[in-house]
Amino acid sequence: MLMAINILAIESSCDETAAAVCADGRILSNVIANQTVHAQYGGVVPELASRAHMQNIVPVVDSAIKRSGVTLQEINAIAFTKAPGLIGSLLVGSQFAKSLALSLNVPLIGVHHMQAHVLANLIDEPRPEFPFLCLTVSGGHTQIVKCDSPYQLTVIGETMDDAAGEAFDKSAKLLGLPYPGGPLIDNYASKGNASRFSFPEPQIPGLNFSFSGLKTAILYFIRDNEQKDSNFLRNNINDICASIQKRIVSILLNKLKRAAEETGITEICVAGGVSANSGLRTSLTEMGMRNGWKTYIPAFQYCTDNAAMIAITGYYKFLNEEFDELDVKISARSEW
Ligand code: KG4
Ligand code: ZN
Repeated sequence: MLMAINILAIESSCDETAAAVCADGRILSNVIANQTVHAQYGGVVPELASRAHMQNIVPVVDSAIKRSGVTLQEINAIAFTKAPGLIGSLLVGSQFAKSLALSLNVPLIGVHHMQAHVLANLIDEPRPEFPFLCLTVSGGHTQIVKCDSPYQLTVIGETMDDAAGEAFDKSAKLLGLPYPGGPLIDNYASKGNASRFSFPEPQIPGLNFSFSGLKTAILYFIRDNEQKDSNFLRNNINDICASIQKRIVSILLNKLKRAAEETGITEICVAGGVSANSGLRTSLTEMGMRNGWKTYIPAFQYCTDNAAMIAITGYYKFLNEEFDELDVKISARSEW
């Protein structure tokens, strides 16, 4: 009997310490330690993130190994996030991965976090067929990626300023909500009337996005209305959130529709933390039905930052023998 290819993956690019094990591309364990320390600061504090990774990494990897039922000696390669991310955070994960690969004498596979978000769509059935388009929407990035194979991914559109997750989080901050505000806006929006208030849709050429104008519009909208009625925000929070969410979603989906038209591709995926947004999920499904697309969204635990997506990407790289040397560099930058 052929032995399975077992990959241990480590993700530490931002404020989650995560580890996963996959066997022939099947996820056996997926462990995440979230860092709560940042909430009081209204955003991720890089130095605190690095320190928390240092505390979390051993127990998280240990737990991923134990839950997988695979022993360390049966691991065939170590995959880790090499870019993009907070440099101190990447450093903890990469040094740990390098040390473990060295001590187990197995190859090392550096993985690009944004590619991994896209390939999260290959974890579970039903899987998209190639070529597919992926709208990757996270706290740090907003991209439309054309995927011709697991190895041929091309960014065909991206944000020129804020990422979609930032647009949610910054809007939430303007509404006085704690960080990260995306899920809170989603929650309030589910009880609100999305047609009550109208926010502008930026006119950006091509397949690129911009969210900075929306942020400014929200700022003035709140200021003007609060001047007239100091309870405006409190009394209208559901409708405001629903209206903001509707606009962010329409900015994203109008460009995705255009990308589908321009490329003729009808296999359409979404990835990244913002794909957890219920407004985006519903509107994508509706748009897909209207346009004859097949749409795919990874399971929730594979949408937000996780190591399972690093494991599946590592698995495909293993099959293609794309290994890295021990001196492979990490990078904060997002170039592919
Ligand atoms: O992919 P992710 O977990 O981390 C990054 O790589 O950035 O994405 C985190 C982002 C945050 O901005 C968070 O507010 C947003 O995803 N997010 C949501 C929802 N869940 C997470 N935004 C809107 N609605 C949600 N339900
Ligand atoms: Zn991410």
